Amino acid sequence: MIETQNLDLYAKIEPLIGFDEAYEALYQIYLDLLSPYDIKTILDVGCGNGNFLLHLQKQYEAEGIDLSPRMVEIATKKGVKATNRQLSSVKENFDAIVAIGDVLNYLRHDELKDFLVEIERVLNGGGLFICDVNTLHGFEEVTAGSMSVDFGDQFLSIDSEYLDGILTTEMTLFESIGGECYKKEQDMILQFYHDNTLITKETPLALLATKDITLFSDDVDKQLFIFQK
Ligand SMILES: C[S@@+](CC[C@H](N)C(=O)[O-])C[C@H]1O[C@@H](n2cnc3c(N)ncnc32)[C@H](O)[C@@H]1O
Repeated sequence: MIETQNLDLYAKIEPLIGFDEAYEALYQIYLDLLSPYDIKTILDVGCGNGNFLLHLQKQYEAEGIDLSPRMVEIATKKGVKATNRQLSSVKENFDAIVAIGDVLNYLRHDELKDFLVEIERVLNGGGLFICDVNTLHGFEEVTAGSMSVDFGDQFLSIDSEYLDGILTTEMTLFESIGGECYKKEQDMILQFYHDNTLITKETPLALLATKDITLFSDDVDKQLFIFQK
């Protein structure tokens, strides 16, 4: 197993947040963008709970990687192929790679270039890379703020603050362990804002197109990029 940026608690709370419907809409956008291309093999980087792999494996030879061992466990239980490893350890090559649901925002600016160079290495010639990142509006107006959900035996509180290009999300989960007793788990995730020019500057791939996405609000909260090797 490899070290993660506190991504396992996120894996545990994700089902409580209720983003599934919005994510399904995002998956459909990706599937529509992939469909005109002659693709056999796809790598889903940051595959998370494996829900997008469930779609992909109907049409492609698809597999995923994720830095969170818990996410990989959740994904593999759904019957998709997912492993807990870094992109840099991937030896196979793929016709397409996707990084869906702001995976690139988990990388600091100084990690972005190496990641994008690795994407290029893992792609076959002519291969596609599709990814999305949170816009400034997405960070400042959609993601920042507080929420809590109470299921009786589970109580979740999330506080996100966006400051100087970094979104800090603190998650606290209380779970009933019987009687009046609760187990408390607490962790923090950092996400980094990357503007469009940074992403296109740091990749050796050619930019084919960008697409504005309005997933959680009426304004553009995610920016999607399609690159080709
Ligand atoms: C917001 S979730 C999106 C998950 C998934 N793509 C989906 O559509 O539900 C971001 C995921 O990226 C993973 N992740 C973050 N940085 C990563 C990296 N450098 N390599 C692989 N996975 C990463 C996290 O563990 C998390 O599961």
